[in-house]
Amino acid sequence: MAIKYVPEPFRIKVVEPLRMLTREEREAKIKEANFNVFNLRGEDCYIDLLTDSGTNAMSQNQWGGLMIGDESYAGANSYFKLAEAGKDIFNYGYIQPVHQGRAAEKVVFPILLGKGKYAISNMFFDTTRAHVELAGARAIDCVVEEAKDPGKRAKFKGNMDVVGLEKLINELGPENVGLVVLTVTNNSAGGQPVSIKNMRETSDICKKYNILLDIDSARFAENAYFIKRDEEGYAGKPIKEIVREMFSYADLFTMSAKKDGIVNMGGLIGVKDADTPLLLPIRANCISYEGFFTYGGLNGRDMEALAIGLYESINDDYLAYRIGQMEYIASKLDDAGIVYQSPVGGHGVFIDAQHMFPDLPYYEFPGQTLAIELYKEAGIRCCDIGSYMLGNDPDTGEQLKSQFEFTRLAIPRRVYTQAHFDVVTDALVAIKERAHSIKRGYRITWEPPILRHFQARLAPAE
Ligand code: F0G
Repeated sequence: MAIKYVPEPFRIKVVEPLRMLTREEREAKIKEANFNVFNLRGEDCYIDLLTDSGTNAMSQNQWGGLMIGDESYAGANSYFKLAEAGKDIFNYGYIQPVHQGRAAEKVVFPILLGKGKYAISNMFFDTTRAHVELAGARAIDCVVEEAKDPGKRAKFKGNMDVVGLEKLINELGPENVGLVVLTVTNNSAGGQPVSIKNMRETSDICKKYNILLDIDSARFAENAYFIKRDEEGYAGKPIKEIVREMFSYADLFTMSAKKDGIVNMGGLIGVKDADTPLLLPIRANCISYEGFFTYGGLNGRDMEALAIGLYESINDDYLAYRIGQMEYIASKLDDAGIVYQSPVGGHGVFIDAQHMFPDLPYYEFPGQTLAIELYKEAGIRCCDIGSYMLGNDPDTGEQLKSQFEFTRLAIPRRVYTQAHFDVVTDALVAIKERAHSIKRGYRITWEPPILRHFQARLAPAE
């Protein structure tokens, strides 16, 4: 039985019209797009679950904030407001705005990584992995074993394998590990949270070997909500207090604010100790790549909206509604016997496409195949988080086999309603009923050398 939907803690003031194309039109559109969902136009997607990044609906307070944005090149009021919000929520000494998450990575990673160095994470997101590699280093994932079994319900499946981490550090040599990155929530493993205990243990290992710990904190508020809900001793704690404890274990954070910042564009770098020698090169890189350090590639009005959004994201009612949406979808999938990374994570539902299409090999991309089917079925756009996204080994050029073959339904914040989610789950049920008839997936006909899934062209495998 589907669980009760948690009602929206807001009402709707502005609407954006949607239109569903006919099945024939959708089939033509996806073919024209070379079976790459990134080539579809937004207006051709009825329900767009491609990402929860920058697709959020802002509140009236955020829209109001846009009007008082200070566009001064240097020393804008809006910068100080954002820096104060960041210092207050995360308890960090220095806050640097940048235009999005990968900009934070581009500014920070070359300072700490280079040829012969390694970065180890519970799991790197694709752009984060790319920036490690662009800096000349190698990225290694070290997630706990249970994350790899989507059907197995376990708490904090996003955790770092701390035993594996220490072993890796010793094998590679601590002097060769430039950075440890904790991704919260763990996006690639299905938006799965990381526990406070795991953060503390990871931090202890980093301190022991004198390695800096970075929190890739795009979904920090959702992670804090899971800690409050599921970790012993945290039920009564305010979300803000949990956030502060989470960040106390790291030295710095890189953040795509397009997720839990509840804005359409923005990013942050945070450094705990404002007196660290890291500050100068961060500012220097920011000035070179992003803009002067009091705006970092953002408009003054964007910084206003972000300063407000950061506080809205740590509101209990908002978080209960937000995670409630995921649980609603998940409960309907349970009823239909559709397997997903469970328990459901914070920002989306990750369908186990390999389970849906057991005979499709990884090199015919089950996750991408299901994403294409969902578009054809009901105009739903979503994406592969599997071998198609993972790409090729940077040293050998061979297709890598992902630990998962997921199709990700990422849920934009405060955008879609219960009825939209019913359309999504009905479409999945319809595909499941004819899944046995889908015998082949897709092959790549052209791909760029890095981050290929954004631009590659595909064709049905024959
Ligand atoms: N880190 C994580 C964990 C992310 O999920 C993302 C983006 C980034 C860094 C990069 O941030 O897009 O602002 O440059 N994830 C988006 C997604 C794109 O769809 O999951 P960005």
